[in-house]
Amino acid sequence: MSSQAYGVTLTTPGVALLFTGAVVNDARTRQAGCMPRSTVTFVCAQCGGETLRWAGQCPYCQAWNTLQEFEVRKPPPGRRGKEARSVSSSPSPARATPVTEISAEAAPRLRLEWGELNRVLGGGIVPGSLVLVGGEPGVGKSTLLMHAAHQIEGKVLYVSGEESNQQVQMRAARLGALSPDILLLAENDLDVIADTISAEAPQLAIVDSIQTVADSAISGSAGSVTQVRESAARLMRLAKETGVPIFLVGHVTKEGAIAGPRVLEHIVDTVLYLEGDRRQELRLLRAMKNRFGSAEEIGVFAMGERGLEEVPDPSAAMLSQAGTASAGTAVVVVMEGTRPLLIEIQSLVNKRNDSVPPRRVANGFDVNRVHMLLAVLDRRGQTPLGTHDVFVNVAGGIRITEPAADLGLALSLAGNQRSQPMPEGLVVLGELGLAGEVRRVSQTERRLNEAARHGFTHALIPSGSRTGRPAGLHVREVRTVAEAISVLFPKPIHSGAFIEEAEVPVS
Ligand code: TYD
Ligand code: MG
Repeated sequence: MSSQAYGVTLTTPGVALLFTGAVVNDARTRQAGCMPRSTVTFVCAQCGGETLRWAGQCPYCQAWNTLQEFEVRKPPPGRRGKEARSVSSSPSPARATPVTEISAEAAPRLRLEWGELNRVLGGGIVPGSLVLVGGEPGVGKSTLLMHAAHQIEGKVLYVSGEESNQQVQMRAARLGALSPDILLLAENDLDVIADTISAEAPQLAIVDSIQTVADSAISGSAGSVTQVRESAARLMRLAKETGVPIFLVGHVTKEGAIAGPRVLEHIVDTVLYLEGDRRQELRLLRAMKNRFGSAEEIGVFAMGERGLEEVPDPSAAMLSQAGTASAGTAVVVVMEGTRPLLIEIQSLVNKRNDSVPPRRVANGFDVNRVHMLLAVLDRRGQTPLGTHDVFVNVAGGIRITEPAADLGLALSLAGNQRSQPMPEGLVVLGELGLAGEVRRVSQTERRLNEAARHGFTHALIPSGSRTGRPAGLHVREVRTVAEAISVLFPKPIHSGAFIEEAEVPVS
């Protein structure tokens, strides 16, 4: 087999994409552009960056021991021709089309029964798209895709490189997804898989997982960077040529060090990550990239005895996991894309009497943000916690990345230190600045509506939030963290103080 280098000069769409995608910055473009006639490059399994020489550390993302040999070679002649012939009416590629003559939606999207899945996909599955579903082993990727297979009208090909047909059948039976329309194929050879997809022309093909398939024309074992990249690029061409949407499963470890999804992100049309703690119920399917829709959407599911269920009202599910209001809990509203979620934050502060540096542990919250909030509380909120151990936990295994939860966390810390619970039915919104000022947050009205819809009666929000107030929700505006603390935890302890004050218009 010829192993002539083609680098970025190849014009095959799928493969060109593979390179342009992998090329992230100018330095890399230059490097790839003047690539000598070498047949071997090194690709970082974590960020997909390429170098000509092996090094212990990736020059792009600085990860250690992630560079793997990548053999650049042309696809064998004939294979592309074979796949290309299966296209019924390929238009002449030489004629450019006026933008006005292109119909917006060439083929309708395949809609699934679960709105949560459609939402993340941007409104359903686009024919001919290549979708990567990544996640840690055991999180529920195979389960989710078997549910999806069952929800498609028409034939679905489920290729498993990890499990036997019996194992896949057992899972399908457990999920109540037994249907003669679901065809199983236990196979690792990419040639066989590609031929089966072409021959069966299913409505949807699922390849579980991309790390277990190998193209015999390419060196390296299944799961190596070369195999993963080339196999995905070939499936991309196949999807585009046949119009069959293909879902790839990709395992990632916590470190992301194994060859796979990170490298694939550049190649595929859509990247979805299934997140969640295996020991907990909730799973989030998060769009990280989507050529056919918003990359901000999340879908929420719950894992149970009989597989996954969609959770169309995640706030209710998350609040049901919350405990009763106690000193140190606060409910915040964070936005996930266009979606407001009510989430409970818990904190525990514990005074240390020894000289050991205090511990700061945050689950579901950036620990650096916790450090910042502790400093602000100390200097601006009369809450010195410098000698306290601090533990922060977000209910439901959710990770909060939005600063809009700052004030909620700060008040939960202040409340725990004072051993005073916040009033029941209160939500807190606001970002905290270093001067202790409470900053406005985006989409306040949406967040307040969500709180009102779930029966919350009081809200503490940043002053100057020009927003409508949902009926039944008493809104109190605050300017600083000190003001918020004095509103919630007045001295002497006097429960209900907030409730009375809330009705007093803000001066
Ligand atoms: P799986 O879909 O096999 O994970 P992945 O493909 O991401 O590796 O799901 C595995 C986990 O899901 C396993 O720990 C058991 C759990 N599970 C249930 O709790 N209920 C079910 O009905 C199924 C099928 C799996
Ligand atoms: Mg699996």
